[in-house]
Order: sequence, then C-alpha cells, then structure tokens
Amino acid sequence: MSNPAAGSAVPAGAAAPAKKVRVPDFARWKAEGHRIAMITAYDATFARLVDQAGVEAILVGDSVGMVVQGESSTIPVDLDEMAYHVRMVSRARPKALIIGDLPFGSYQISPQQAVESSIRLMKSGAECVKLEGGVSMADTIAAITRVDIPVVGHIGLTPQSVHRMGGHRVQGRASGHDAGGRERLLDDAHAVEQAGAFAVVLEGIPMELAAEITAKLTIPTIGIGAGVGCDGQVLVLHDVLGLADSTFTFTKQFAQLRDEIVRATATYVDEVRSGAWPDEAHSFR
Ligand code: KIV
Repeated sequence: MSNPAAGSAVPAGAAAPAKKVRVPDFARWKAEGHRIAMITAYDATFARLVDQAGVEAILVGDSVGMVVQGESSTIPVDLDEMAYHVRMVSRARPKALIIGDLPFGSYQISPQQAVESSIRLMKSGAECVKLEGGVSMADTIAAITRVDIPVVGHIGLTPQSVHRMGGHRVQGRASGHDAGGRERLLDDAHAVEQAGAFAVVLEGIPMELAAEITAKLTIPTIGIGAGVGCDGQVLVLHDVLGLADSTFTFTKQFAQLRDEIVRATATYVDEVRSGAWPDEAHSFR
C-alpha cells in the first residue's frame, strides 16, 4: 500500500514512530522533554491515517458519542460500543499506543467493575485504558493497575461530569478543595499519579495551573484546552479535520474537510443526475 505520509505536504517532524509505541516510552519521553502527540480515532481507516501521520497515541475516546453517534454528551456511550470501536482501531495495527476509554457507568460502581470493564477493552485490542476522575478514582486506578492494565488518568473538565459541572466548563479557576477547585485539581493530579497512572489528561484548565501540575508530576501530562505547558497534547480527530458542526476555543481546524466532503458529494449527485457518472472508463463491457 502506498504511504500518503511520504508526500511532500506532510511536515518533516511528523513521521510515524519507527517502532511500536509501548507504555514505558511515556516515562522516557517525559524525562527527555519529547512532546507527545495524541489524537482520537474510532475506526480502522482513520486509525491507519493518523498512525501514518506520526501520532504517538490513539485515543479511542468516548467522544465517539458526540462526534460520530450524534449525542449531545458522552454519557450515553456504553461499554459494548467502546469495545466495538477499540476493536476496529486495533485492526489497523497502529504503531501508536491504543488507549481505550472507559465509558460512563462502566467503572464508577466499584473497582471490581472497573477491572472487569478494563479487561473487556484490553481483550478488544486496547493497550491501556483511560478513565475520568482524580482523588475519588484513586482506588479504582490502583485496582486496575494491580492487574497490570496500564491506566491514563483524566482530570479537570471531565465530560462525563457534565451535569455536575453545569456544562462543559473550564475547571480550576476558583480556589478551593471542592470539585473543580484549583487546589482540588492539584490533589487530583497527585492522587492519579500515586495510584499508578502512567499519564494523565488535563482537560479545560487554566494554562498556568496545567504548567504547575506538569512541573510537579513525574508522569506526563497530556493537555486539551490546558495550554502549551503540558508534556503532550490530545485533540478530537473530527475537530482537527474540520468535520465537526461546532468548534471550541481550545480546538483548531488543521483542515476544512467538511466543505470538501460536501463539495465532493454534491459533484457526485450532480453527475448522477446529469448522466456524466458513471463514464465509459468506469464501466464494464
Ligand atoms: O473521549 C475523548 O475524546 C477524550 C478526550 C477529549 C481527551 O476523553
């Protein structure tokens, strides 16, 4: 198969990792100051493409609920659906590390439930799992890591807590130890690290706080809406490609494929109606 990433339009620094990415690479990258690029993907086609582009990690995120399933939050996504998407991504056999996201309701009931759900995602092809929550999830993270399933934490704006937060709101602006408070986020970060997570996503928090957490932790921080001072960044693929209907301040469209898709499909419709498609070259005799 040809490699589109070899084309001249691909930035030089973005080659696919030479070797399969493994969990211990993350600690080394933190020590070396190598910035980690993570992106979401939910199927084999896009997993192959983002892998060719050189990301270190593919997050099969529960954002699939919002960007693929048309839900208004990640709450409805269930474990069967996540296992299905993890399996599709794993069939692409990416060099990038595959992170399976634990959906709402699949880990909050008990550490045992969390271990069972994590095993399900690992059997579907995940190489580690991600879950939302800090101090309150420390025992759960410890239970999952005890059975040798590596865990990525996720604190700050945790989309599964959308109702408690009153929307997808930036966290850590107010001081205090209550949920969403600045000091609470520092506690959350330390709790996730001490529980055994090998990396933590910092979502929707002030950049100064993200930089402070990054300096204090020994595990890499992966920011989304958390400024440039993190050890790595993650974005939702559909935002990066300009496919989403709406955009957030903290995302960037690196392409506008939405317009291109509408244009290509409208041209197809036009050619079907006019009889220009299919032409002789695409017909059999
Ligand atoms: O589900 C997801 O895509 C995520 C990222 C936004 C970090 O959790």
